[in-house]
Amino acid sequence: TVFVLAALALSGCAGNESLNVLAPSGTSAEKSLDLIKLSLFIMMGVFAVVISIYIYVLIRYRKRKGKDVMPKQVHGNTIVEIIWTSIPIILITILAIPTVKYTFDMANTRASEDSITIKVTGYQYWWEFEYPDLGIKTSQELHIPVGKQVNFILEGKDVIHSFWIPALGGKMDVIPGRTNTMPLDAKKPGVYQGKCAELCGAGHALMDFKVVAQEEEDFNKWVAQMQKPSPVQTASQKQGEELYRQNCLGCHAGTNPNVQGPDLTKFGTRTTIAGILENNEKNLKMWMMHTTDVKPGSLMPKIDYLQPQEMEALVDYLMSRK
Ligand code: CUA
Repeated sequence: TVFVLAALALSGCAGNESLNVLAPSGTSAEKSLDLIKLSLFIMMGVFAVVISIYIYVLIRYRKRKGKDVMPKQVHGNTIVEIIWTSIPIILITILAIPTVKYTFDMANTRASEDSITIKVTGYQYWWEFEYPDLGIKTSQELHIPVGKQVNFILEGKDVIHSFWIPALGGKMDVIPGRTNTMPLDAKKPGVYQGKCAELCGAGHALMDFKVVAQEEEDFNKWVAQMQKPSPVQTASQKQGEELYRQNCLGCHAGTNPNVQGPDLTKFGTRTTIAGILENNEKNLKMWMMHTTDVKPGSLMPKIDYLQPQEMEALVDYLMSRK
C-alpha cells in the first residue's frame, strides 16, 4: 500500500510517461529514482519491524481471562535506548551518503566538446531559452540533442520559479538576481513535459514548457532552421507584419522596458501556444483574444480590437515564422 501510494503521488497519478519521475529518461532522473527506491526500501524495513513488534506485543501481552493484575512497571532501559538511538543514526547515514554524493555530482556542469549550454530565464508565466553558442533564442519549447550533456544556466526575472523536467531530472530554483546551474541529459528521443515547480502567481499551474530531445542529426536540422531567416512572402503576411509591428513588437522584441514577452521570431516552428495550447490558427486567434482567461495573470493584453481580416493577416504572419 505504502509503495502504491508513493508511486501514485510521484507519478502525479496521470500515467503520463513524459511527465513521470518513475520512468526516467536521463542520468539525473535515474539517480533521483535510485534515491527514491533506497529511501522507500529503508522505510518499508522500518515499517515491517515496527509493525511486527507491535503485533507481537499486542498478542503476547493481551488481557487474559482470570488474570486481572497490573503488570510489572519498568522505567528506563539503557540498552534499549542505545539501540533505538543508533538504528536511526545508521539508517540516516546510509541515506545521506549517496544523497550528498548525487547532489554534488548533479551540481557539476562540465563545459566540453560534447556539451551544450542553454540559458533559461523564467518569467511570469513563460520560459525563455537561449543558446548563446548557436545564436538562437526561443521560448516555451526547448530542443536538446540526445546523449549530450546540457548545461542549463538559470535566471529569474520577476519572482522565484522552479525549472523541472520530471522525466529528465531537476528541479532547480530560478531566482531573480542569482544564477543557478544544472546539468541534464536525455538518453532517448522524445517530447518531455516541463513544469514550473514553485508557486509563482495566478498562472503558475499553466507555466508549462516542452523539451524535445532529438537525435543529433534532427537537432542540427532544427538549429539550421532556427538560424535561417523567414522571409515575408504574401500580401497577407506583409499586412500581418505591419500589424505585428504596431501591436506586438514592443513587448515581443524586448524594446518595452516594463514588459518582456516571448520571442516569436520562429513562432511557426512550435507545437504549442503559450506552452499550453496546441499551435493552430484557431487556437492562436482564441489565445490572442482571451489571453488572461486562458492563462490567468498573463501580462499579455487581449488583442480583441482588430478587424477579423486583420486578425487573419496577423495569424498568417505569425504562422509563417518558421
Ligand atoms: Cu513560475 Cu510557478
